[in-house]
Amino acid sequence: MNQAIFRPFYLGLFAWLCVFSVKAEDPYRFFTFEVTYGQIAPLGVPQRGILINGKFPGPTIDCITNDNVIVNVVNKLDEPFLITWNGIKQRKSSWQDGVLGTNCPIPPNSNWTYQMQMKDQIGTYSYFPSTKMHRAVGAFGAINVRARAVIFVPYLKPVEEFTLLISDWWKSDHKELQKILDSGNPLPNPDGLLINGHVSSNTFTTQKGQLYMFRVSNVALTTSINFRIQNHTLTLVEVEGSHTLQETYESLDIHVGQSASFLVKLNAPLKDYFIVASTRFTKPTLTATGVLHYDGSTTKPSLPLPVGPTYQIHWSMKQARTIRWNLTANAARPNPQGSYHYGTIPVTRTVVFANSAPVINGKLRYAVNQVSYANPQTPLKIADFYNISGVFALNSIKSNPHSNPPAIGASVMGFTLHDFVEIVFQNNEYSIQSWHLDGSDFWTVGFGSGEWNTTLRKKFYNLNDATTRHTVQVYPNSWSAILVSMDNKGMWNLRSAIWPRRYLGQELYVRVWNDEKSFHTEYDIPLNALRCGKAPLQ
Ligand SMILES: *[C@@H]1O[C@H](CO)[C@@H](O)[C@H](O)[C@H]1NC(C)=O
Ligand SMILES: *[C@@H]1O[C@H](CO)[C@@H](O)[C@H](O)[C@H]1NC(C)=O
Ligand SMILES: *[C@@H]1O[C@H](CO)[C@@H](O)[C@H](O)[C@H]1NC(C)=O
Ligand SMILES: *[C@@H]1O[C@H](CO)[C@@H](O)[C@H](O)[C@H]1NC(C)=O
Ligand SMILES: *[C@@H]1O[C@H](CO)[C@@H](O)[C@H](O)[C@H]1NC(C)=O
Repeated sequence: MNQAIFRPFYLGLFAWLCVFSVKAEDPYRFFTFEVTYGQIAPLGVPQRGILINGKFPGPTIDCITNDNVIVNVVNKLDEPFLITWNGIKQRKSSWQDGVLGTNCPIPPNSNWTYQMQMKDQIGTYSYFPSTKMHRAVGAFGAINVRARAVIFVPYLKPVEEFTLLISDWWKSDHKELQKILDSGNPLPNPDGLLINGHVSSNTFTTQKGQLYMFRVSNVALTTSINFRIQNHTLTLVEVEGSHTLQETYESLDIHVGQSASFLVKLNAPLKDYFIVASTRFTKPTLTATGVLHYDGSTTKPSLPLPVGPTYQIHWSMKQARTIRWNLTANAARPNPQGSYHYGTIPVTRTVVFANSAPVINGKLRYAVNQVSYANPQTPLKIADFYNISGVFALNSIKSNPHSNPPAIGASVMGFTLHDFVEIVFQNNEYSIQSWHLDGSDFWTVGFGSGEWNTTLRKKFYNLNDATTRHTVQVYPNSWSAILVSMDNKGMWNLRSAIWPRRYLGQELYVRVWNDEKSFHTEYDIPLNALRCGKAPLQ
């Protein structure tokens, strides 16, 4: 078919769509993020942080379902830079995902404007840099997507919301940390744990008798956390965009890359209480605290801190199984979550991904099914769009673990649009894993110990009310299984949320595709797309 004839038609249609949609469309919110170095001292030692608009952590993006969020990111660092929006699905547009497989990085002293829509999303999310080790020293922040006024939210309205970003922290510069990894060594243990950039100095002022919401995101590089509030219980209402059964917890584990929202009723005696985040599965345990201040209280919070689990793996796995979908609750749209009977949809394909830590060319790497990912100069998505050969090969990663020698490569696994896929993450290492998928949420149907096999489906899978989310933990020497409907066309990052692992190759891309070119399934390359590698200039 002659492309030259069809091109003007597409462009014309696109222009028409734009004109049409401006009238009919959802509200726009504009942000400028100026990214600079600046001195910070979260652990009392002055060091170079990365700030957004002078702030650490970065500003919160507050918006409503279906809002168009336009963020002009101005890079004033000395290195190329990108932000990714963790859990924002970027429907039909992996072009906006902000990872090196889809975007050219923003060069120093330059800018790029993301154009995203919070299409059919609600919930608590985060953003952070996806380039190098930048996020180790800042430039992360929260994204809170609220329900539209017409949507019934399945919990009592809190009087106020608090947003908490929990991060592990190193006193080292990001370039030093990068050098350690580049030389083939594992990242050292973190020096501390922070809540909103502080070890202990956050105070949250509340009124006795009232109901508050806590939106908590684990933006750490390496460590799962346990979150709790002295003498108060946490009623879980949402994880990563799903309304959960409102179970009450003394404390909750939140793994790297995950988010959760709790309601907290202020019904204890009038005094102050500790808010605690502590690391899981680490030695030693690191702790960050904040203060829940009852207005009018003159009593400081009292020690001891409430105790939380430290190394108990089964405790965590059992708790994970209690996080379930409220089938009658709305999500972002006014249809009950349970009307989507995911357990009855036939699986079109099963894929098993095993993580490992091989030595390749004399250096420590991390791999998935023996391939340790390395970014080509040309983003995969751009190579795909312009049919540039030699950048990646489809199915350059096997769909099952095997024992071929480990190698470095640009792994892409192809799926057909609307495939319904079972993915098993097999972890044969003695460290916890956390896996994140861009572009789609998935049902976390099962967690189990040892080696996965097909007979475990019957015994362990929750095919009724498992919750959907974007990041799943995999316990040491265990497996986790997810179901995902590949209904978002594009090139999507499937990565270890544990950053040194991702930096050294524990990631791949999932290409969701059909041959029909249509703006109903995927948007065209943005007009302002940055160019790099073999990408044509226009
Ligand atoms: C850079 O920012 C300017 C406004 O300061 C904007 O007009 C321009 O579109 C931005 N460039 C890109 C590539 O987004
Ligand atoms: C918490 O409650 C228990 C009783 O339920 C009480 O013994 C304890 O002193 C309380 N702690 C604080 C810090 O108020
Ligand atoms: C589930 O959602 C409904 C709203 O549809 C709400 O009334 C109910 O309390 C929720 N149930 C639980 C257990 O969270
Ligand atoms: C790339 O190849 C496909 C299939 O051959 C074709 O439909 C498409 O138009 C090509 N893209 C470009 C930008 O040439
Ligand atoms: C599957 O795994 C379970 C638990 O490890 C084990 O008991 C069972 O024998 C395995 N079944 C097969 C067919 O390998």
